[in-house]
Amino acid sequence: MARRAVKRSAAGFVRGVRVPFTDPSGGKGFWAAFSRAPAHRHVRYRVALPGWRGRDVTVVFLSDLHLGSHAGDVGRLAAIGAEVKALAPDLVLLGGDHMNMMTFGGGRIPPEAIAAELAGWSLPMATVLGNHDLEYGAAAVAAAFETAGIPVLENRTAHFAIGEDALRVVGLADDMHGEPDLGLVAAAAGAELVLSHDPGIIYDLPEGAVLLAGHIHAGQVRLPGLPPLRMPPSRIPRALAHGHHRVGRRHLIVSAGLGCSALPLRLFAPPEVVTVVLVAEAA
Ligand SMILES: [Fe+2]
Repeated sequence: MARRAVKRSAAGFVRGVRVPFTDPSGGKGFWAAFSRAPAHRHVRYRVALPGWRGRDVTVVFLSDLHLGSHAGDVGRLAAIGAEVKALAPDLVLLGGDHMNMMTFGGGRIPPEAIAAELAGWSLPMATVLGNHDLEYGAAAVAAAFETAGIPVLENRTAHFAIGEDALRVVGLADDMHGEPDLGLVAAAAGAELVLSHDPGIIYDLPEGAVLLAGHIHAGQVRLPGLPPLRMPPSRIPRALAHGHHRVGRRHLIVSAGLGCSALPLRLFAPPEVVTVVLVAEAA
């Protein structure tokens, strides 16, 4: 899995912030009072998946956990797990950025603790890695998830049984920090879902592709009725920062994610749990 080297930020060398993280409780000490998570919402999309002939497939998509970016995030994730299980999904896909790499504010939860909580839901699951996971250390995060039984689809494909049929999920490495293997995507063959952290990869996917991505946090801090004030590095424009869009004949679903980066603050960009119902194309 070739990947361009990712520079670790100065945060990795500040006392108490240095990886690997060691506090599975995600304690935030003094910062706890200033870093409560806003209420998350549930959003639901229905997408006709080219080539799919099976029954409807319920996919829950969780992205940008940045677990520990808010006080009480460990309990919050367990509560979200109960909500996800109540949705009875066929599959849970994770869009990466599991790690909280904020310089200040604590809540630095090791990837083993995050993976253990997710694996404890006992649902079919797979993930890709985000730029903050790469900043922590791609090998360490991937090893934690693989050890917990959650496949890390960094330029890898997995098949999930849906009744008598098999849904193909292609995970691509990050668009800006990795080397996505576009040869894995064969949308013309159909019955395939693409998972990647940064939605900017949509422009390189073939017509008919269906992409689930995160990364943008819906801007994280917005003013009502206006596009995001600030965007993380990505090829995706502000107009496609969040929600379900058509890009040519491709479907792009960009989750607002659940956690925060830089500051534990969201304004007019609520965190969300996304459900995507994949249905067969009309004959
Ligand atoms: Fe993120």
